[in-house]
Amino acid sequence: MCGIIGIIRQSGNVTSDMVAALQRLEYRGYDSAGLSVLNADGQIERRRTSGKVSALLDLTTKHPLSGPVGIAHTRWATHGKPVEQNAHPHTSASVSVVHNGIIENYMALKQTLIAAGHRFDSETDSEVIVHLLEEALRQGHTPSQAMAWAVPQFHGAFAIVAVFAGDPHHLYAAVKGSPLVVGLGEGEGYLASDALAFAPYATRAIYLQDGDLAILSAGHVSITDDTGTPVTRPIVILPPSVAALDRGPYRHFMAKEMDEQPIVTASTLRSFWDPVHETVIMEDAPPRPRRVDIMACGTSYFAGMVGQTWLERAGIPTQVHIASEFRYRPYFADSDTLSLFISQSGETADTLAALKYVHGQGGRSLAIVNVAGSSLHRLAHHTLLTKAGPEIGVASTKAFTTQLMTLAALSLFWQGGGHAEETGELVSIPGHLRHVLNVTAPYHDLAHGIFRHAQSALFIGRGPSYAVALEGALKLKELSYIHAEALAAGELKHGSIALVDEHLPVVALAPTDALFEKTASNIEEIAARQGQLIILTDRQGAPRLQRFAHTLITLPETTPLSMPLIYTLPLQLLAYHVALARGTDIDQPRNLAKSVTVE
Ligand code: G6P
Repeated sequence: MCGIIGIIRQSGNVTSDMVAALQRLEYRGYDSAGLSVLNADGQIERRRTSGKVSALLDLTTKHPLSGPVGIAHTRWATHGKPVEQNAHPHTSASVSVVHNGIIENYMALKQTLIAAGHRFDSETDSEVIVHLLEEALRQGHTPSQAMAWAVPQFHGAFAIVAVFAGDPHHLYAAVKGSPLVVGLGEGEGYLASDALAFAPYATRAIYLQDGDLAILSAGHVSITDDTGTPVTRPIVILPPSVAALDRGPYRHFMAKEMDEQPIVTASTLRSFWDPVHETVIMEDAPPRPRRVDIMACGTSYFAGMVGQTWLERAGIPTQVHIASEFRYRPYFADSDTLSLFISQSGETADTLAALKYVHGQGGRSLAIVNVAGSSLHRLAHHTLLTKAGPEIGVASTKAFTTQLMTLAALSLFWQGGGHAEETGELVSIPGHLRHVLNVTAPYHDLAHGIFRHAQSALFIGRGPSYAVALEGALKLKELSYIHAEALAAGELKHGSIALVDEHLPVVALAPTDALFEKTASNIEEIAARQGQLIILTDRQGAPRLQRFAHTLITLPETTPLSMPLIYTLPLQLLAYHVALARGTDIDQPRNLAKSVTVE
């Protein structure tokens, strides 16, 4: 986790541009922030604070510092509390370092360094990097020799950027298992966890690879690989994406991103659309596999669960795995199975580790990714890009629905492109989403009604609507901090129904599909125990279920392909309005980070 930016220019002051870049990286963590610059005398000056990047902005406004070279960091705490003392950069007399990842052998290194007379100030694993580099300098190494000597001693995952006092013409970087991208501007250079950080200043980028050491000067980069051999990495031209970072008239990025869903699901579908034959065409997808294993985390995992139902309908046996579990289980690659990885960021550590595990066993991979150029995009054998655009709100919304659109299209593609009725269903989805987004009053009323002081909530559904229920419960937890649990509706009676009383909100997803009557029976069981039912159904289901409902929300008629997308939106709106009523931090909920780049 954590966001890193380093800037090197020939003159001027990089402080405010580093703070602005950190704000663009805040999705990676936001519990403390800090920066260092090399001042006019080539000495290190540092400012750090707990809290968000806005606190660092205040601090650097009150206590300014200046220099043309600097490094900065926004943190998501792994080792050590999110207090100033643990905030990056970590600094000694001669070195200042920012780090993303985990140095797994830090305890052993720390003990050796303490024995050699080094004094540690923080509880972090990252501080050993500074002291080991300082130790190298003590032994007479130059900064580049110090990096080459110290970095191979670190176990774990890291992206490191360092500045050395008295060396104002270079930034030093090392990469293993955490992303770091070089930005090349006119006579200036950048190093960042995500190209988004320097998007306003540089459009040419180089993605560093595992084992790379880089030395960046204003306008030039030299890279060596893990054998110390100088290498040339490809330069990519970044797409313009900065406009998406503007909240526009919306109060929250989440509100903006929910509202964009009709457009971005349509753009996603368009990128897989053959307008001549009016079918799905996916030039980047592999041919239909015999079997599919899906691997993902969080919301992307729930997209995978929905995808499983579609692929199985297409006759392809499919299993879905939580990436963090999958990577530690025995895995038996077989040439009939395609591994499908789903990720918004393309940087989630567990998903990437699962991909490497599969590749290591000779397996083939397809990735569904939102961020072009991300690690997953670069590593997978095939990639389908979703067109959600940058998603800034930490709770995923449009990334999820574009993943669903891609999976729905993929299931049709592997059936030969889909017949007119099914492709017509896909085409109609964006319009239905707009319709659902236009009705917000019920969610506002629920937020100020039974959810105002609710301690807990249940979500139920069957088949694909169970997967959507899981995503709905996650949204409520993330945004409002209300404990929420999703259950397969038929499973409720095996224990969890004991929770139901007249205070418990139960959100029931009941589209009139093949399982409607089964879900309706479960709804009756909850009603019989006075649960407060919020029922999502369609016009056909409404008369049957109305009498059990505290609130009944009537949605458009759906099909198996359209239901998951359409039923997701009310759950997003519910979580958003409950969070609004409770006054929680909607775009940056506590303890979370958008991109989880540690295990
Ligand atoms: C984090 C985010 C979730 C996201 C998950 C997987 O936990 O807060 O919203 O679903 O990571 O991220 P990915 O980028 O791989 O989809």
